[in-house]
Amino acid sequence: MEKKIMIGAMISGGGTNLQAIIDACESGRINGEMVFVGSDNPNAAGLGRAQRHGIPSFVVDYGAIIQAYKEAPERLKLPSDFDIDELIKKQNLFKTDGQRKTVERFLTTRAIAESQLLEKMAGYPVDLLVLAGFMRNLTPYFIDRFNTDPGHPRIMNIHPALLPAFPGVDGYGDTYRYGCKVGGCTVHFIDYGEDSGPIIGQRCFSIAEEDTLDAIKRKGLELEWQLYPECIQLFAENRLQTIIMTHRLDNGQVVQRRVVKIVEQE
Ligand code: GAR
Repeated sequence: MEKKIMIGAMISGGGTNLQAIIDACESGRINGEMVFVGSDNPNAAGLGRAQRHGIPSFVVDYGAIIQAYKEAPERLKLPSDFDIDELIKKQNLFKTDGQRKTVERFLTTRAIAESQLLEKMAGYPVDLLVLAGFMRNLTPYFIDRFNTDPGHPRIMNIHPALLPAFPGVDGYGDTYRYGCKVGGCTVHFIDYGEDSGPIIGQRCFSIAEEDTLDAIKRKGLELEWQLYPECIQLFAENRLQTIIMTHRLDNGQVVQRRVVKIVEQE
């Protein structure tokens, strides 16, 4: 049996995915242990789940940091290794033309919060960070300091839509409003964009005409609770490989495809 992986989780809300992961660790469906739960939101109900399972938790209050920056930016301490030009160049969250100030404000406040996250996480041994309903985009500031081996991404996210459809904050709502006949959820590694990293797993469900948004959310969440632990267990078994595949089409054109390959168990 491989060594258990140490898992850290970030949440913003109710934490039902967090619960599914904790339960899977406790029942052995994930060969892992949850070592901390962090949140950007002091009122996240999911923090109570961590407490009930004796898992340490912490909060970095993004809202308070953003507010403090609005009121008096000069009073906030920037991380000593903060380089705004480098972050702007790397990030893929925004187009920068014409809105440099807004992008700068976003990246600066997030990097301040992220340096605090990294500080809080430093005391824990972590192999994998799972975003479980974490409603903040991580910037290259955090990603590069956690994903130190570019060949082995180790931040996963679950998204409530069949990516690349409907990235953003309301996947099921967007699916519902668009009138889709199927909806779904996606687990992926994160990269510098919004919900754009390599896809590990997806599940889909049918949407009937009479389905309400609540019905869609319920169908989706039930699949999320299965899919996320399965993907985490593949990581624990060291079976996920991010590769670029190259194919030549019949017309001679060469196309590339970035995939997470699931390798056979040894
Ligand atoms: C889940 O549906 C998850 O996919 C979504 O938030 C919900 C969290 O529920 N995540 C995102 O939208 C991330 N952009 P939970 O707190 O009960 O796990």
